[in-house]
Amino acid sequence: MKFAAALVALISASLVSSEVVWSFKKFQDGVEVDFEEGPVTQFQSQALQKVSEARRKRIDSRIAGRATDATVTSTNWCGAAVTGTTFSSISGSWVIPAITRRSGQSTSSEPALSQWVGIDGFSNDALIQGGTLSQLVGGGQQNVAWTEMLPAASRDTSLTVGTGDHITVNVTATGTTSGTVTLQNTSRGTSIVGTVSGGSRLSQNSAEWILEDFEQGSSLVAFAGFPTSTFTGTAIRSGTSVSPSTATLINLVQSSTLCSATLSGSTVEVADN
Ligand SMILES: *[C@@H]1O[C@H](CO)[C@@H](O)[C@H](O)[C@H]1NC(C)=O
Ligand SMILES: *[C@@H]1O[C@H](CO)[C@@H](O)[C@H](O)[C@H]1NC(C)=O
Repeated sequence: MKFAAALVALISASLVSSEVVWSFKKFQDGVEVDFEEGPVTQFQSQALQKVSEARRKRIDSRIAGRATDATVTSTNWCGAAVTGTTFSSISGSWVIPAITRRSGQSTSSEPALSQWVGIDGFSNDALIQGGTLSQLVGGGQQNVAWTEMLPAASRDTSLTVGTGDHITVNVTATGTTSGTVTLQNTSRGTSIVGTVSGGSRLSQNSAEWILEDFEQGSSLVAFAGFPTSTFTGTAIRSGTSVSPSTATLINLVQSSTLCSATLSGSTVEVADN
């Protein structure tokens, strides 16, 4: 009896996600260099908080069979997600925008947003991701390059990122609770490679390019204004490359629409409303 109880405890413990452990390496033009790892941040990117889903049936036979007709409304995500089985990696490139205070946001508020690519989080609560976040603090904009594996908070990777920088991120799932995130400064030849284990079990059934209103202390941060921004990249689904051109689009709506996503070919465009 005692043994059975211990076994039940052991099995249920193994269902609970284990501690998320990251380790980082830095490279300059492909050569590993010394650096100091960044801290855990007070920020957390979350899985999709869905409000509604609208499906428009297309009857035009010329485009029948194209599965691009869903738009999802969310309180925290804006962008595009591809779904199916089994995603092993995603890449994304973007520019860090100059963010602004929205009308109505007080001069003491610290509005922010993040841009990232990741695997999962569209229809489950697991998520592995890498990206940048920008926040107005005092008179200036601060930018951080980060990685995250839920349920842990974001990790500052200590890669220097500036407004206007071109960033390329690759997120690869190497197992159901392990992965690699590479953040690259394409102009300078610097990159950080983060390796993670632990965390919520991935099901690898979505990959996404997202601009997010993330959380600090379980509340959404004030969402910054931003110029129209784009994501390019591909995902690998069952060994085959898929572009965002077949993605489900996600609009960010709080008391009104704050960000809407559109596709221009295989480029995801996110616009402030
Ligand atoms: C991400 O990086 C891995 C390792 O270099 C590579 O095999 C994979 O193709 C990359 N993924 C994408 C979507 O480019
Ligand atoms: C990228 O390089 C630019 C200069 O080309 C530099 O200003 C910026 O801080 C670098 N950012 C990253 C991500 O290292």
